[in-house]
Amino acid sequence: MKKVQIKKFASYAPQLTVSNDDLSKIMDTSDEWISSRTGIKQRRISLTENTSDLCLQVAQKLIKQAHVNPAEVGLIIVATMSPDAATPSTSALVQGKLHAENALAFDISAACSGFIYGLEIAQKMMRQSTYKYAIVIGGEVLSKEVDWTDRTCAVLFGDGAAGALLENDAVQESFYGTDTKVVGDLNGDLVAGQTNPIQEFPPADFTVFHPFKMDGRAVYKFATSEVPASILRVCKANRLQPDEVDYFVLHQANYKIIKSIAKKIKQPIEKFPMNMDKYGNTSAASIPLMLTELAEKENLEGKTIVISGFGGGLTIGSQIIKL
Ligand code: ACO
Repeated sequence: MKKVQIKKFASYAPQLTVSNDDLSKIMDTSDEWISSRTGIKQRRISLTENTSDLCLQVAQKLIKQAHVNPAEVGLIIVATMSPDAATPSTSALVQGKLHAENALAFDISAACSGFIYGLEIAQKMMRQSTYKYAIVIGGEVLSKEVDWTDRTCAVLFGDGAAGALLENDAVQESFYGTDTKVVGDLNGDLVAGQTNPIQEFPPADFTVFHPFKMDGRAVYKFATSEVPASILRVCKANRLQPDEVDYFVLHQANYKIIKSIAKKIKQPIEKFPMNMDKYGNTSAASIPLMLTELAEKENLEGKTIVISGFGGGLTIGSQIIKL
């Protein structure tokens, strides 16, 4: 079988940094409340750039770093819960501006598990195709979906994008197993950007925008039980002992969730890199943002990494990768 390899990671975050103290000036909250419960100290907020703009920066960095011609890119997948529009897809906007005229492009909606679902789709599609390269990006401008008067949600999220360049028919294989699960019954625990049918015609009240709503405690409970189970499932199914894993790169929603997962799978917290202090929860962007930072700090060649995310759907995904 053909080998598919992750060649590069890249990230981009908007310039404006908003600290917890900055937020406490516009809503009834505090640095102490936010950081003690989540580990978040600041987040990046996009003022003029939309999701496709952040994703384009990532795509441009990826092809530049890997010396790839845009025409050689055969597939672009953007995972996002905050697309520029319902249509065109964010990935089509990236494809056009990147001049990747040979690339098939589409978005996927799996919230914070989206990057993992995107990698899974891309690597499987590549093996059946002649695409030389694929780009998978998780990108979010959640600041446009948050109700900035709702302190229970607004303090948690941030904007950013990050992604990976995949090479087909490569020397090294990067994908060693995936576990995915969707619990659609729990869809109401995390909802953003909902639209409703018009109810009557002609419509008297046509409200398009419904901001982010989340049952934080329910999502916490879900994450701390389902993510360890998913990690252990993917390891067992692929005959990998958790002790053999170098890093667990998890969705950066909350350091307490990550600590609880580390304890449940009996792994030292040092194997769980974290950067939610700098970016907050960036949904689909959070795992590749963390992978990019890790790859900048050390050579990840030969390392075994388990990536795992959870989010709206509710969705879960875990994947074993080697670089
Ligand atoms: N500042 C100050 N007080 C606040 C704030 C705030 N920003 N938000 C809520 N409060 C208050 C509430 O009003 C409530 O007050 P009350 O007790 O007087 O009613 C109280 O704080 C609630 O506090 P806790 O019970 O201590 O909150 P909890 O420990 O449940 O922490 C949190 C809340 C951080 C949201 C937690 O439940 C959590 O992290 N859940 C998981 C969320 C998550 O991971 N989401 C991401 C999922 S997927 C995705 O990324 C798209």
